[in-house]
Amino acid sequence: MRIAIVGSGNIGGGLARAWTAKGHTITFGARQPDEPEVVALAREIGAAVATIPDALTGAEVIVLAMPFTAAPAVAAALPSWQGRVVIDCTNPIGPGFTLIHGHTDSGSEAIQRLLPGAHVVKSFSAQGAENLAHPVHDGVPASNFYCGDDAAAKAVVKQLVEDVGFEAVDAGPLTSARYLEPITMLWISMSRTLGRNFAFKVLR
Ligand SMILES: NC(=O)c1ccc[n+]([C@@H]2O[C@H](COP(=O)([O-])OP(=O)(O)OC[C@H]3O[C@@H](n4cnc5c(N)ncnc54)[C@H](OP(=O)(O)O)[C@@H]3O)[C@@H](O)[C@H]2O)c1
Repeated sequence: MRIAIVGSGNIGGGLARAWTAKGHTITFGARQPDEPEVVALAREIGAAVATIPDALTGAEVIVLAMPFTAAPAVAAALPSWQGRVVIDCTNPIGPGFTLIHGHTDSGSEAIQRLLPGAHVVKSFSAQGAENLAHPVHDGVPASNFYCGDDAAAKAVVKQLVEDVGFEAVDAGPLTSARYLEPITMLWISMSRTLGRNFAFKVLR
């Protein structure tokens, strides 16, 4: 698939590495497309770099892997988001380690409101970025949750989750982001004692 990723750091870079290895075509959308670090990463993994509007324009899937607070600026990069598949990886965590939107709303729903007509799916948010390179623990693929309201978009995201090497777990509609975002906070909080090499697993 043609995938545009806004952000080339821990999450954007990790996803790009995994997906280029699976044959996907990646373009990083960067504020500074000539910045040496993103240029070197793109060259190493066979990705491209463009301005954010240029990267997003032709993409089949758009991945938000930048700070949550940058979402309004990214929203302005396209004249219309109608029908676009958007994966929201951001964590809306504010000062004092609190959820910006509390538990009766979520960052993903706020992003959906910013992108009218888009099919926003939250995913890749509830574990550390290290898991993108090591999604399998003792032979068991970690669970990676995804939630959203559009069935076709969710099917695309499910495949992309599996392409990273995770077990894809459907967590329901986009309102489930209200519960997924606190799971991220649980992961961060646990990482202070467990370190960062762990992930959650759904057993059935
Ligand atoms: N790290 C984790 O383990 C983890 C896990 C799950 C979810 N997340 C979430 O994933 C997102 C990215 O985290 P990260 O750890 O990958 O961060 P990071 O390593 O700091 O990378 C952030 C990326 O976002 C770009 N960026 C910053 N501000 C921007 C803006 N206003 N517009 C466009 N791009 C901008 C940066 O590019 P510049 O060079 O332009 O600054 C950089 O490429 C965050 O929302 C984070 O909460 C992180």
